[in-house]
Amino acid sequence: MCGIVGYIGTQQAAPLIVSGLKRLEYRGYDSTGVCVLSDDAMRIEKRAGRVKDLENIVDIASIHGSVGVGHTRWATHGVPNDANAHPHTDQDGGIALVHNGIIENYLTIKKKLESAGYSFRSDTDSEVLAVFIGMLYKTLGDLELAVRTALTEVEGTFGIVVVSVHEPDMIIAARRGSPLILGIGNGEYLVASDASAVISHTRQVVYLQENEMAILTRDGFSTKTIENVDTRSVVEEIAFELEQIERGGFDHFMLKEIYEQPITFRDGFRGRLNIEEGSVRLGGLGPVVDQLRQAKRIIITACGTSWHAALVGEYLIEQLARVPVEVEYASEFRYRNPIIHHDDVVIAISQSGETADTLAAIREAKLKGATVIGMVNVVGSTIARETDAGVYLHAGPEIGVASTKAFTSQLCVLTQFALFLGRMKAVSAQQGKDLADALEQIPEQITRILDNAEPIKKIAHEYAQASNFLYLGRGYNFPAALEGALKLKEISYIHAEGYPAAEMKHGPIALIDENMPVVFIAPKDEIYDKIVSNIEEVRARNGRVIAIADDDDEHIARVANHVIRVPRTIPMLTPILASIPLQLLAYYIALERGCNVDMPRNLAKSVTVE
Ligand code: G6P
Repeated sequence: MCGIVGYIGTQQAAPLIVSGLKRLEYRGYDSTGVCVLSDDAMRIEKRAGRVKDLENIVDIASIHGSVGVGHTRWATHGVPNDANAHPHTDQDGGIALVHNGIIENYLTIKKKLESAGYSFRSDTDSEVLAVFIGMLYKTLGDLELAVRTALTEVEGTFGIVVVSVHEPDMIIAARRGSPLILGIGNGEYLVASDASAVISHTRQVVYLQENEMAILTRDGFSTKTIENVDTRSVVEEIAFELEQIERGGFDHFMLKEIYEQPITFRDGFRGRLNIEEGSVRLGGLGPVVDQLRQAKRIIITACGTSWHAALVGEYLIEQLARVPVEVEYASEFRYRNPIIHHDDVVIAISQSGETADTLAAIREAKLKGATVIGMVNVVGSTIARETDAGVYLHAGPEIGVASTKAFTSQLCVLTQFALFLGRMKAVSAQQGKDLADALEQIPEQITRILDNAEPIKKIAHEYAQASNFLYLGRGYNFPAALEGALKLKEISYIHAEGYPAAEMKHGPIALIDENMPVVFIAPKDEIYDKIVSNIEEVRARNGRVIAIADDDDEHIARVANHVIRVPRTIPMLTPILASIPLQLLAYYIALERGCNVDMPRNLAKSVTVE
């Protein structure tokens, strides 16, 4: 949420910052701004809109200077307009700041500043911090000290980068709750919200820790806590390649990521799954194996798509490991004083590893003594660091705001986790082998679905103007129905709801008429006949049925208006295959409606505010 890039070195900062911002736009795209220092002056250009909107009106190459910062915004305080765009400056215009996060006590600080005669140009909490730092600088005469002093009074979350004409050969960065990394180049240093903005300059990075500050100059960098205690930083190598964050010939990142799933899914079990023994090796769980074996209960906490994966995880773990599982929205879990015992295991699922609510939930769980495990995609992210142990998804960078490949990788990891735990308990080697065999076939089965997208495009064309959609599934596919509905609403802005199919009779059936498309996930499992009855109920009320069904299911075409075929797998793995056509359906409907698939309105990929 909000993208930040800062640069200090020998090259022209502005074009470099702007190209970095383009890579961070998935974090927010309400407004864009840059600030570059040159000859004791500061030039700021900022506008509502995307990076390309700024480029259209400002000749970026005409901005000279080799120190600067830039920002793409996801609005929290104040509408997306030019005045609210970052960077924000202090009263005298000598200090500029970009900010990601929320300053919760900004009104208190603002009042204090107003009574001291200061005024404001924007509605943002971030400008209050800039003005506050400026006021402190006047008395302290030291930028680092002014930033540090201001931050000790701030409540809330921040990733900030500050530059100033008063001390022009320096950049100050600090974080609490919002990620920042340093890019270590040759005579040049960058600071950014994530590695994608620096990888074209350097692969060497330092992840700033909670409550840490960094001072960057052309000659080096130092890190310390906000309380001024020196810290030791570890330089790490970026774990992905540049091509992975480029569109690579696809029209959208989302489509590219959908089509990457045969590979990303395989990467999720490569080196982990032992088909011969029907077992799984999850090296990252080594430190907590005993706690897992003894766990009386597992709580999975997550947000958004990751929460849907958690629901599938609940079914899988209870089935295979016979341990009770509860799934909680992280935002609810953290605030309701949950009952947690020391023999509980809490699993946090997160693509980004930075979601504020999920992070707060694991902190709460740790405080109460639970063992905390992360299932995270972004290597080195905060959740990955703060958990006792974990399993990476290995899906590679996901840029499209609507999550696709991370979801199937989450299901891949959850299936293996359930088998891992199950094999310590009642699951036999043969049962494990059957599951591992089926899992191993999934990548090729996904390819077959992707190779046959034409019928899905046609269905998308026919229903693109619908105002509502219902998604129904049972058992393992109830969460898949929720996820299908979420994908559609996120990118096409069509209202869609997911429901357990049998629950339809208790409400949603009232909505069904000839204008209501209903997507059924109907694999041939033990409740297939019940799903077919639910389909009949919809047809009896003139609803239009789109069924996701096995490729050898001959009966379904007689009851459904449209059938999307998927290869047959074991019931446990059906939500993985069902999600592929659901992703494509949402994608093609959004295209038909002319929506911006990769940057849907109001959304952001990484939600680092509450
Ligand atoms: C945002 C994203 C979703 C994502 C959710 C949780 O809402 O738009 O795609 O599922 O956050 O994010 P996480 O990174 O924790 O999985």
